[in-house]
Formats: sequence, C-alpha cells, structure tokens
Amino acid sequence: MRKKIDKEEQRTDERAPTGLARKDLLGIRELTSAEIVHVLDTAETFRDISQREIKKVPTLRGRTVINLFFEPSTRTRTSFELAGKRLSADTINISASTSSVTKGETLLDTARNLEAMSPDFIVLRHPSAGAAHALARICRAAGINAGDGAHEHPTQALLDALTIRQHKERIEGLEVAILGDVLHSRVARSNLHLLTKLGARVRLAGPGPLVPPELATLVAGGAVRTAHRIEEAVEDADVVMVLRIQRERQTSAFFPSLREYAVHYGLTRKRLSAARPDAIVMHPGPMNRGIEIASDVADGTRSLILDQVANGLAVRMAVLYLLAGGSALAQAQTRAEASGAAEQRRDKANKNAAQLALLEPVPAG
Ligand code: CP
Repeated sequence: MRKKIDKEEQRTDERAPTGLARKDLLGIRELTSAEIVHVLDTAETFRDISQREIKKVPTLRGRTVINLFFEPSTRTRTSFELAGKRLSADTINISASTSSVTKGETLLDTARNLEAMSPDFIVLRHPSAGAAHALARICRAAGINAGDGAHEHPTQALLDALTIRQHKERIEGLEVAILGDVLHSRVARSNLHLLTKLGARVRLAGPGPLVPPELATLVAGGAVRTAHRIEEAVEDADVVMVLRIQRERQTSAFFPSLREYAVHYGLTRKRLSAARPDAIVMHPGPMNRGIEIASDVADGTRSLILDQVANGLAVRMAVLYLLAGGSALAQAQTRAEASGAAEQRRDKANKNAAQLALLEPVPAG
C-alpha cells in the first residue's frame, strides 16, 4: 500500500533547518517530502518580491552564481539569472557555443576552471544524464541541475508543484495526467517523483513507444499508471500536464508524422472536456502549438502556463537561498546581534526578523 503522507510532513516544521541540509540540488528523487514542502513554502515568500516596485533584496550579496548551459533555454536560464540578481548575487552566464568547450575542453575541466574562480553556485544544463552529479562531485560550489538529458529537471517539478498548490491548495489526493513524450522527458521524471512523494496519483499517456508500461514502476507504491489513450488519462483529472515532443532526443521515428501526433495525441478542447470542470492545464514550455497542445487550450482560461514561468523565478530564488543554507541567515543574525538589538535575542518572534530583513528591498544609493 502506498505510504500515507504524514500531514505534519506537508507543513514546514518550525524546527526545520532554514537551509536545505544538502550541498546540491540534483534531483527530486533524493529529496524528502519535507524538503520539497520547505522549498515550496520558501518560494511563496519570494513570489511577493517580484511584485514589488524594487525587486531586489540583499540576501545573497557577495555570492556568485554561474549559469553553465550546454543546451538552449529561455525560461530556466533567464529565471536563474534573474533569481540571482534579485537576491543581489553576481550572476554569470556561459553557453557551450561561446565557451572553450568548442575547442575541445571537457565538462569536468570546464567545471574545474570555473571552480578555481570560487563561485558559490554552478547551475548546469547538459544533454547527458548524470552530468550535474559529476560536476557536483568535484566542485565545492553548490551544484544545481537545470536539466540533465532525459533524467531530471528538479526546479521545473518544484515550480509545477508550486503552481498546482497555488490553484488547488493541495497536492495530496489529486489526479494528474501527464501526456506526450514521457520517455524522453526529464520534466516528467522529476514530476513523477515529486507528485507521488506528496501523495498525488499520476496517469501517463501518449504514443505507445513514448509511454512504455515500465515508466509506471519508476516510483514504488502503485501511484502511477499508464493509459493507452489520451482520453482515458484525462478523464476526471484535476491537472493535465502536456509535454513537449522532444524531437532532438528521439533517435528513431516514434510516431508517423507531427500531423498524426496532433490528431491522436494533441490536447484539444474536446479532449480536455473529459477532465474535471475545474481542471488546470500546464506545459513546461517551449510549446509546439497545434501539435501537442491546441492554441485555444494553451491560451484558454484553464491554462497556467505563464503562471508556471512566474513561479519558476520564485522557486529558483528559494533554491539559491536555501542552498546558501543557514550561512546567509547566520550572517544577518550576527549583524543584527552586533547592532545591539538585545530584544532580538530574547524574543523568538524577533529572532525571525533577521530572516525577514533579508527580504527587505536593497536600500537606494
Ligand atoms: N521548461 C524549460 O526548461 O524551459 P527552457 O528550456 O526554456 O529552460
């Protein structure tokens, strides 16, 4: 029987550490449900910062974030860069095409050379599964997996969960349909781990070769099942998540043509009508409009695709903040104590003020 998620585990415990008790964020598989909820709760706090006139706080002043991207990206790279900047970190972007990788340097040599410049975080996107783990093993900097081949994309699953929680107020007990090219999807893998850890049930559907039955065994406990038809997976679903067809990862023809894919597997308004009346529609982007998702669904009232992007920024701010660990908080507390705020030492509520101060706008000048 599937493990019942302890309600207590779904709330951030007051005793929980301020940071994540780990150096790197490489996948959802290795996170506990309590850690996932801690990231989501922290991201809620950061979401407000992007609504302010001054969208910058001093939390990570003096820290350096390197975005090392070996594959194209719009959302992930931009939001990690913005997340770093809004937390006052120095951010640097490196893409494979403009790096010495084009001259034959290996990923690990590139990482060692970047490490020699003492960054605090290296955010890596790479076409090979396991690349982020390899980098994290040799670097002192915190490693963040921004997508490794068809393996994991942890911050995408976290932002998806934040979006679902925002609109459904829970994840436990939800029925989530994930449609399309599951086989090549790191987004699907990370989501399978996250959603089932938090007590949702997942149905997978798409062309047979892209949704092999073994995918249902990726997580134990029977919370995942594969369906033969899109309609079967969508029926009474609370959440419908559409995946991009990843033609760049497909080494053989998994379906006859894009037109046939759209006809048999695309999410149309008619297919969506089988979901629950309050079902929400998600897509990690980039979308192939008219292929895996019809334009009127992508732009429809149930679509949360741009909410996902907005939440991506908050989640990435939270991840940087939490991986910085207690140290950013500890420095702020030390500063607060050194300034002679004796009350802050006595009063438990005021003790949290140091943390809140980190979220105050950067003073002008
Ligand atoms: N969802 C996602 O990873 O998008 P990008 O490839 O644009 O980063």
